[in-house]
Amino acid sequence: MHVPVVIIGSGPSGLLLSHLLHIRGIASVILERKNRQHVEGRIRAGVLEMGTVGLMRKIGVDQRMNAEGILHGGIYISVDGKRHHINMKALTGGQTVMIYGQTELTKDLIAARLAHGGDIVFEAEDVSLQGIESDKPSVRYVKDGAEHQLSCDYIAACDGYHGVGRRTMPENRLKTFERVYPFGWLGVLAKAKPVADELIYASHARGFALCSMRSETVVRHYVQVPSEDKIEDWSDDRFWNELRTRLGPDDASLVNEGEVFEKSIAPLRSFVAEPMSHGRLFLAGDAAHIVPPTGAKGLNLAASDVHYLSEALIAKFCENDERGLAQYSQKAIARVWKAERFSWWMTSMLHRFGDEDSFDGRVRRAELDYVLSSDAGKTTLAENYVGLPF
Ligand code: FAD
Ligand code: DHB
Repeated sequence: MHVPVVIIGSGPSGLLLSHLLHIRGIASVILERKNRQHVEGRIRAGVLEMGTVGLMRKIGVDQRMNAEGILHGGIYISVDGKRHHINMKALTGGQTVMIYGQTELTKDLIAARLAHGGDIVFEAEDVSLQGIESDKPSVRYVKDGAEHQLSCDYIAACDGYHGVGRRTMPENRLKTFERVYPFGWLGVLAKAKPVADELIYASHARGFALCSMRSETVVRHYVQVPSEDKIEDWSDDRFWNELRTRLGPDDASLVNEGEVFEKSIAPLRSFVAEPMSHGRLFLAGDAAHIVPPTGAKGLNLAASDVHYLSEALIAKFCENDERGLAQYSQKAIARVWKAERFSWWMTSMLHRFGDEDSFDGRVRRAELDYVLSSDAGKTTLAENYVGLPF
């Protein structure tokens, strides 16, 4: 069987790409290793840039997002218990972000793909790529014990950090950049009212904390924990007490405790692989780069990659113009590095690294104090948080 584009992975990047191609009449097949329930159940990001919202609107998968998403025009930064407001809307000429969980966005995209006759092969095992340097690439996979092969024109690896796409690229063509942080985020989903009207990013002597939300009745909170910590180390009580301590006495009294229904620890990492394409293979989203979550860029970066890649594939299939495909990696990577910089910067300003009593520690603190005391500093933060244009 021949299909113009084979997409590996049904995370946000693969699903969005498939739908963007579909509305321009370009067929694709998505091969996904896990089952639908697993993909729809993964709890991850919660903040959408308006560029990402715009892509969901463009493909017409926006009814539930428009009804349930919450627009935020600012964030709070709390330092040692004192809250500062970053009025992003005022600082960026009216821009906002939208609170809408990645889980919901994924469910909406899968439902829309299937409703439009889209082909998603869940539980596709042993996916492997052949002939990426030729003009006749193909993809093999096993489904229900039977081997299948799809020939195609292009392969989009939207298969996350652990996927097969990046690993298929010749090692000598790939340059990788990495920073691993000595801490992770313990994240909790609970049935409770949000702490404030907007997100609170808190920097405290005991470490970073973040109060986010999914709706008026569900909160998503995080605390910085040492990399070695295990989920068993964190009872619900210990989590709520630590969160209150890091928010300081005034905001602690605003924390509403509720039933915790998800708790997990995610490591923090910065990673970039260059280039993002080789022959007929194109990488998008976490397959090519990872950011630490401070600043909520991971999902949004996947969306901007897919915007560039879909435009390039559409130009090729509709106008036989290959320039976009040739320039994809360069174009995407320029925006990737800006988001990498911002996520690293937010992470370093707001977390505790255990070297606070050193030159580096003092400089990080001075940077945070400067940003919060300067309109120019706050504007830089706001401009990046709402998302750079693409
Ligand atoms: P993914 O969502 O990872 O999707 C890749 C898909 O490919 C998956 O469905 C996977 O099963 C499939 N796949 C992998 N390998 C294969 C294979 N060999 N064959 C077939 N299919 C395969 N970002 C934020 O902004 N804020 C957050 O709070 C946040 N929390 C996160 C927590 C965790 C635990 C993780 C892992 C990420 C988090 N992120 C967060 C990042 C954000 O969720 C990602 O940037 C986003 O999911 C990227 O989308 P993607 O489609 O590129 O990759
Ligand atoms: C959420 C995650 C983030 O990484 C962030 O910066 C803000 C919010 C969230 O899961 O709600």
